[in-house]
Amino acid sequence: MLNALIHQADRYVVIGNPIAHSMSPFIHSNFAAQLGLPLQYERVLAPLDGFAQTVAALQAAGVKGANVTVPFKLDAFALASASPNSLTPAAEFAQAANTLKFNANGTVLADNTDGGGLCRDLNRQLNTLGLHLEQCQILMIGAGGAASGCVAAFQQAGVQHLTVLNRTVDKARQLAQRAEAIDLPAAGGGLDTPPSHFDLPGTPVVIVNASSSSLKGDVPALHPDWYERAVLVYDMMYAAEPTAFIRSLSKLDLPCSDGLGMLVFQAQLAFEVWTGQSPNALETLTKVRQALLAKAKQQ
Ligand code: ATR
Repeated sequence: MLNALIHQADRYVVIGNPIAHSMSPFIHSNFAAQLGLPLQYERVLAPLDGFAQTVAALQAAGVKGANVTVPFKLDAFALASASPNSLTPAAEFAQAANTLKFNANGTVLADNTDGGGLCRDLNRQLNTLGLHLEQCQILMIGAGGAASGCVAAFQQAGVQHLTVLNRTVDKARQLAQRAEAIDLPAAGGGLDTPPSHFDLPGTPVVIVNASSSSLKGDVPALHPDWYERAVLVYDMMYAAEPTAFIRSLSKLDLPCSDGLGMLVFQAQLAFEVWTGQSPNALETLTKVRQALLAKAKQQ
């Protein structure tokens, strides 16, 4: 009788390879504790050629949902797209998914909350400047997976215009064309293209670094005039120390942010998809930042 009264914890996981470094268990456990939900969240290391089998085993074990990280976001999209009505517009645009919801009837819903998480963090920071994404244009550096994961969210957030600049110019132009196809005014070019070429006069510029250059400690060679037009610069990468991109801007008097907020807000969106409840992401962000700094000190 007593057993029947004890609520079984719903199980969620993050799947990746490697996965030991993932902060998602910390974030989701913190969300659950805030809301008093009995939720269990684990890391799952899937074999590189075994994503679908791993998901099938998790579903069979009654797991309710998964976050998906490198290198499986394309596999997660492919897995869900096999059945009808299983993709959100964000996942559809990115052709990649970072959030899976396992429905009781065996079907899978695939979402991509990366872009939505970025927009929530951008709006939080723009708010302190008296601005909102709806008033802004975005200059995005990079045209790979991380960049395409954000375009649908920019459109949904009402961004005025998107400029995609990339080392490989053709990829920037292609991504801009795909943005235009979902009614987000956009243009693409090379990193050395000056703002006068594209932007809307009088519309504040938010610069987002979606390139993977920071991973190698490189800084994309963006035309310097862009920084004069910017109200906020955001690097999607994060680390305990400022990223190479943010360090390179230290002489400019510009608000800069790393991508830790994006990590927490994409998790907040995933949590909402799974549970229908919304935790306080800022409370968690403070704790994640502290944990990241403490981990770096131990190393
Ligand atoms: P991700 O999934 O992290 O986006 P990706 O799809 O391989 O990874 O895309 C990496 C992006 O970072 C690309 O836009 C890449 O530019 P190219 O298309 O020209 O390769 C960009 N990138 C990587 N290193 C860079 C660097 N040092 N300077 C500028 N752009 C860089």
